[in-house]
Amino acid sequence: MANTLSISERADALEHAKIDELGSIVSKSFLFNLADGKMGIDGGRELLQQYPGKRMLMGDDPRLPKMPARPTLLDFFKYRMSTGGAYHMLQSATHALKAGMNEKTILACLLHDFAVSAFIRCDHGYWGAQLVAPYVDEEVSWAIKMHQALRFYPDEAAGYAYPQNYIDYFGADYEPDDYVQADYERARNHKWYMTARMITVHDIYSFDPNAKVSMDDFVDIVGRNFRQPEEGLGYDDSPVAHMWRTLIRPTKFL
Ligand SMILES: [Fe+2]
Ligand SMILES: [Fe+2]
Repeated sequence: MANTLSISERADALEHAKIDELGSIVSKSFLFNLADGKMGIDGGRELLQQYPGKRMLMGDDPRLPKMPARPTLLDFFKYRMSTGGAYHMLQSATHALKAGMNEKTILACLLHDFAVSAFIRCDHGYWGAQLVAPYVDEEVSWAIKMHQALRFYPDEAAGYAYPQNYIDYFGADYEPDDYVQADYERARNHKWYMTARMITVHDIYSFDPNAKVSMDDFVDIVGRNFRQPEEGLGYDDSPVAHMWRTLIRPTKFL
């Protein structure tokens, strides 16, 4: 019977089954549709007609791990992050720790790809910096912002060569966008240049299966250097609280 349905009809049927299971109508933000190459958004009225008796999802998405009422930074690592992303940042922070870096640099390494790992990848340095800015020293968020640009520019004296990965990803003739070039120029002459540069030095891609990494090594450093809001990230009325709430409930209708 299913064989007689077209691919899009089958996708619709699956979607219906999912909505029935979920109990609420889960819709996608315009941005999520853009990422699928679609210019559009489901209208509320149309969705109600499509799923009679159902309401829009305004709470937790039951498909995702439940978050505590007052989530901490470490809860986001646990419940809202790709495993590979968490591993990459832990490896980076471990590398910095072993090299004897100061705590600000280690924290910057631990958080540098937060956006790629748990939010949005394009302009990840900027998004990541903004997410943590109210809670860390300005030097840490500045370094996270700037590491994105610095990754495209080698500094052999500091121990950073242009990554082979980027040649594979983008081709040998890739030229960064103008704003990336401009931020690189700004960063190069900045008093915190070396903090951002150290993120790139410890931003290693080789995944050593024998390397033991654990958040346990960083709990105290996070405790001393990340001002965890008592109300929980997302509920502290900071200028970025809504961004954390979006991570907690990415499919909330409004
Ligand atoms: Fe990065
Ligand atoms: Fe990275």
